[in-house]
Amino acid sequence: MTDADLIAAARAAALKAYAPYSGYSVGCAILSTDGELVTGANMENACYRLGICAEQSALTTAQHAFGLRNVARIAVAGGNGAGDALTGAQSVTPCGGCRQALLEASHLAGRDFEILCASGDGQKVERLSLSTLIPHGFGPASLADAG
Ligand code: THU
Repeated sequence: MTDADLIAAARAAALKAYAPYSGYSVGCAILSTDGELVTGANMENACYRLGICAEQSALTTAQHAFGLRNVARIAVAGGNGAGDALTGAQSVTPCGGCRQALLEASHLAGRDFEILCASGDGQKVERLSLSTLIPHGFGPASLADAG
């Protein structure tokens, strides 16, 4: 699967978002080390702060499908999903909470992740490593001294 294919999957997933409150649709596509693809989209609810992000939706599916330790490649796209295709020129980067969840998967996988951060129209793509997105993150190793 090419990077363009992975971004296309994230954009398609965003069209399945339930985002009536923000109007901002996000899709995430995760490919396993064996080439299995899972996707997720944000899902909001009337209690605004309890909505679920696309990345965490996709990570949950990845955990069930092939395990977080087998996460290999990730793409995220965000924008306006009101039409037949996702639109918007500005690329999306994972929110703080999603960076934390991705850090857990990265620890299990034993490697840093490159995340393709795409605009709604898919034209702008930033390639950002997770270690860049969450430097000095608090991860499983941070609990080494716990009792
Ligand atoms: N959102 C995501 O799904 N992922 C991110 O990393 C950024 C934000 C969603 C949450 C909310 O439903 C909408 O985008 C606006 O914040």
